[in-house]
This record gives sequence, structure tokens and C-alpha cells, in this order.
Amino acid sequence: MKKAILSLIACAALTGCTAVKVSDFDSIQEYTLKNKNGMVVKITNYGAIITSIVVPDREGNMADVALGYDSVDSYINAIDRPYFGAVVGRYGNRIAKGKFTLDGVEYELATNNGENHLHGGNIGFDKVVWTAEVVENGVKLSYLAKDGEEGYPGNLKLSVTYTLTDDNEIVMHYEATTDKATVVNVTNHTYFNLAGEGSGSINGHLLQINASKTTPVDAGLIPTGELADVTGTPFDFRQPTEIGKGVDADNQQIKYGPGYDHNWVLDRKGDGMEVAAVLYEPTSGRVLEVITEEPSIQFYGGNFLDGRLVGKSGKAYGYRSGLCLETQHSPDSINHEGEEGWPSVILRPGEKYDTTTIYKFSVK
Ligand code: GLA
Repeated sequence: MKKAILSLIACAALTGCTAVKVSDFDSIQEYTLKNKNGMVVKITNYGAIITSIVVPDREGNMADVALGYDSVDSYINAIDRPYFGAVVGRYGNRIAKGKFTLDGVEYELATNNGENHLHGGNIGFDKVVWTAEVVENGVKLSYLAKDGEEGYPGNLKLSVTYTLTDDNEIVMHYEATTDKATVVNVTNHTYFNLAGEGSGSINGHLLQINASKTTPVDAGLIPTGELADVTGTPFDFRQPTEIGKGVDADNQQIKYGPGYDHNWVLDRKGDGMEVAAVLYEPTSGRVLEVITEEPSIQFYGGNFLDGRLVGKSGKAYGYRSGLCLETQHSPDSINHEGEEGWPSVILRPGEKYDTTTIYKFSVK
């Protein structure tokens, strides 16, 4: 990995960028990573949130392509919390009815998304303060999720190491161990708009997803257990496809979204790092490649953004003005153990959870 220049800009509590009200948040800081190309990434240890990603367009003009806020205080006190830039978990995505059984014990989690559990519950990893350690080319954030926290079993020692390379890659390396059998499925929930955050709909972006199958859902976005071929459907992104082409198609799965908010099971060649998705924005020429070890990816097209939230540029985030590409194990995996398309999410003592995803930026 080539060197990137790391400049640690810690915001003191008095400067306002971490003017947070809750006393135990007084250790919040924001870290700025900068590489030789001028790409800038900002990260805070509150929620392990990526607060800013500034990359060039084909003319060299820089723009922030990550939706979010310009102060940590705003992330904490926003009127809505759609997980901008955050690491979500202990279980990223949904668990049906908030229930699962592990080694004969039934666990009940918060049902914080209708009748289901989403993104680790009421106080998921996006809403806690992580311990930060500056490392070469980046920052390592660590969190101990206690046994019983949000209803999950096991003391989970989790870290995510963010590094920025001179190839314009944000490398996200997740590691975890546990002292008791538990479930873990964490991911980053950055909302992207490659034309620049606040610049309107993402439906003009072209998306490619290297997957022939999705896991269709019910009205609550819980997988039915089926694996469906994408051929001939609005979910076939095996070739670069404009998102707006199928986002309002007359299709039951699209109606459930509404729009795109689904899980694709990747056509993987092996277990290593493979390209899951490629996002391209034609007016700027910006490209984002999502490269991962994970078996699946959630494409969420910003269907729940409604203009109420005003982002860092002072512009409202309207309907479908940002999209997420969340590498993951399939939703509700713990209730589909052993089924094709649902590799296990169980972590046991002595095992190590270890997975990497890269967001790689370029232009064409
Ligand atoms: C995930 C879910 C979406 C939505 C967002 C957060 O992407 O799949 O349904 O809940 O998180 O708003």
C-alpha cells in the first residue's frame, strides 16, 4: 500500500466541531487523511463515520461525494439518523422480528424498523464513541460491544482500520473476536453522490453489480429465503445500467423498496478481494469501485431521503439524492443458516472475524 500523508487534525472540544452535549462524548475527534493526489477523507470516532470524501472529477475539480454534516454535533443531534457514513452493526441490515436462536438460546433484539431489527438496534455502532488510534496512512477505531448490549450475546471486540492510499482507495479492514458465540455483520453506510453531495438525484448514475442473483424480500424488506435470477428484471446490473431506468418499474420487489433497497449475492470466483460494484457519474466522470471479500452487497437508492435533512453544503438531501453500496452478508442470515446465499454470520470464541472492503475512486 503506497504511503498517504496523514495529518491528524484533532478538533478540541472548545472549537465547536465536537461541541457535543453528552459528557462521555468528550473524546470525539475528527481525523483528516490526505494523499499525494489531493484526495481528502475525514473520519470521526463517533460512529466510525466517514464525514467527508473529496475527490477530483475528470477536469480535476474537487468535490465532496459523501452525504453528511460539517460537524459531529449535527450527526448526534440531527432530526433523523439515516446512518450517514457510519459503520452499522452488530448486525448490519435486518433481522426478522428481531429474533434469532443461537446454540439453542433465543435472543430478542430491538424491533427498531417496523417489526424488524435494523443496523444493530436503537444504539447501534453508528451511535457510539469508538477509541481511536492513529496508524500509518490512517486511523484504527475500536469498540467493545458488551455481552447483552442491544440484546446480542458475547463481548465483541471490534475494530475498523481506515487507510487512504495514493491510488485513491479508502481501505476498510474490520476485525473482531468474541468470548461467547454471537453474530456479527458490519459494514460502512456512506451515501454517495458522485456529482457532489447535495447536487440532486442519483438516478442519472450508471451502476454495475457483479451478481446474477438477489434475495427477494417481503413488504418489510426481509428476505423470503428465495434466490432469484436477475435476468429480464430491473435488478440486472451485470452491465453498466442507469439507475433511473428501472427504479420505478412495475415490479413487486421495486414496489416493496420502494425503489432499490435490495441485496445481491455476488458472482464470486473465490474468497478474496473482488469487484462487487462499479458506480459512474457521467457529467463529472467520477467512478467508484467497491471491492470486497464479502459475499453480498445491499444497493440502497436513498428512498427514505425526503428533503428534511440539510447537509454540509447547506443543501437539502431530497428523494434519492444519495445511494449506499453496503458490502455484507445477506440480510437475516442468522435465520437462514446453511442455506445457499446465506453464508454463516456466527462468530465463536477462538475464531476471528476479518474482512476488508475498498472504495476506490477514479475518473474516466
Ligand atoms: C439500509 C436499509 C434501508 C434504510 C437504510 C437507512 O440501507 O436497507 O432500508 O433503512 O439502511 O435509512
